[in-house]
Amino acid sequence: MFKLKVFVVFLFVAFAVLACSNGNTKRNEFNIAESKSYEASLFRQNCAICHGQEANGKEVDGKLIPSLRYGDAATKSEEEIYLQIKEGKLPMPAFKNQLSEKEIRQMTQFVRRDLQGKQETNN
Ligand code: HEC
Repeated sequence: MFKLKVFVVFLFVAFAVLACSNGNTKRNEFNIAESKSYEASLFRQNCAICHGQEANGKEVDGKLIPSLRYGDAATKSEEEIYLQIKEGKLPMPAFKNQLSEKEIRQMTQFVRRDLQGKQETNN
């Protein structure tokens, strides 16, 4: 009987996780969770906790943390995104002490190229 309960709870959790991940991945877009790129792993370690596993934004304590794919983020210039990551902007922390200059540039490209589908030739 006890085992059955555990199984039912397990099923419930499994479905909940599935439902959430389905909501987070959209169409054919770049899949961060499945990507083996270095940038994707940096994103998973440093950004996903706030911006969501697939960078679609997330609500934390009633505050909306923006998607990095759509909306406001997609109107930002490369320099603005670079500065946002490097210097932060409350409540987002600065990453200049956690990521190297090169990694901040890589994350800027990651947001623009992989998440927003913009082609970049500079840098
Ligand atoms: C502690 C939570 C937190 C973490 C961790 C975090 N962010 Fe943010 N981020 C935010 C919030 C909140 C905003 C909105 C700030 C504002 O109101 O301008 C934001 C905004 C942004 C923006 C600008 C989006 C826009 O709509 O203008 C970018 C780009 C961004 N974050 C990238 C990143 C990247 C890349 C990482 C990982 C290196 C990261 N963030 C980690 C909370 C976070």
